[in-house]
Amino acid sequence: MGAKTTISVIKADVGSAPGHTKAPPELLDICSNILNESEKSGLLIDFYVTRCGDDIELIMTHDKGVNAEPIHALAWHTFEEAAATAEKKGYYGAGQDLLSDSFSGNIKGMGPGCAEFEIEERKSEPIVIFMMDKTEPASFNLPFYKMFADPFGTAGLVLDPKLHDGFVFRVLDVYTGKTIELKAPAELYDLLAVISIKSKFCIESVAKKSGEPAGVVSTSKLNLIAGKYVGKDDPVAIVRCQSGFPAVGEALDAFAFPYLVAGWMRGSHNGPLMPVSLKDANPTRFDGPPRVAALGFQLNDGMLEEPCDMFADPSFDHVREKANEIADYMRRHGPFQPHLLDEKDLEYTTLPQVLERLESRFK
Ligand code: F6R
Ligand code: MG
Ligand code: MG
Repeated sequence: MGAKTTISVIKADVGSAPGHTKAPPELLDICSNILNESEKSGLLIDFYVTRCGDDIELIMTHDKGVNAEPIHALAWHTFEEAAATAEKKGYYGAGQDLLSDSFSGNIKGMGPGCAEFEIEERKSEPIVIFMMDKTEPASFNLPFYKMFADPFGTAGLVLDPKLHDGFVFRVLDVYTGKTIELKAPAELYDLLAVISIKSKFCIESVAKKSGEPAGVVSTSKLNLIAGKYVGKDDPVAIVRCQSGFPAVGEALDAFAFPYLVAGWMRGSHNGPLMPVSLKDANPTRFDGPPRVAALGFQLNDGMLEEPCDMFADPSFDHVREKANEIADYMRRHGPFQPHLLDEKDLEYTTLPQVLERLESRFK
């Protein structure tokens, strides 16, 4: 066992081009330069800046623990600097995810998404960071279930005695803010009864029975924070792999089914979740379809060794083809449900304004 390391992935959309497609490289450079200074000053051990669609992802390692004010403040300040340039350059939605005028201690609830955990590094510590665009945190519900609870997905749940104890899922009710812990496999049906309702329940984290973190999802519900729709809260997740956790390949296989998730155009449509390489993480067709990219690292005393673009693999080609077929099929519904989300999920979009205008004409 090595020293304790915290991995914090903090993300925000602070401006993109054209429209909501892609965070410009220039903004990533600004972020990298700032984080580089913080690495030199010793606040960070290591960092990696990347993007998925219009979201910038700050992947940071340090020894300050979760919810550490200096780390959250650093991320906030970094996004502010990038947003200032986005504003100057007229990039679209400049500063859109920075919902507060000033930083107040913890970035959660202020707009940016945040997934982090503190772990005692094993001798060898492979992690995969999943980044989604044009969708919501609960889109991790099905793949996390497959990774950590489904033996038809993760073979190790059957084959490896170190996995037989199963995992504990912490699930958030996004409306009340309450959480529940459910054990798999002991409470599998209860777990599924809850996480299948993606519009309300969202897996927040998964741990071993010993409490060791296994996976974590960013769950800040952007649209509820702002009280009005300000863009989908595109999520990130961190997953530990191998030796008692799902193998890297088992974690990735959970995305081999392009299932329907909420988001896509105007955050108002169901569409297939398409696994893509980072270079293909540019949602264009109907602002989508929703994407997931994955970056694998080998952690070593907090250093992020050897980033690997995990979905840049032809073995995912036919998943992408299937996703395109599903996208065609869904698009043919035009404005109709179930391509369009349920009415309750459209509460924070612009649709209520349209319906309100018609209210008095109902006799
Ligand atoms: C979805 C998203 C886009 C926008 C759409 C309209 O998460 O960000 O699909 O909702 O492009 O954007 P506005 O309202 O900015 O013209
Ligand atoms: Mg955007
Ligand atoms: Mg986005």
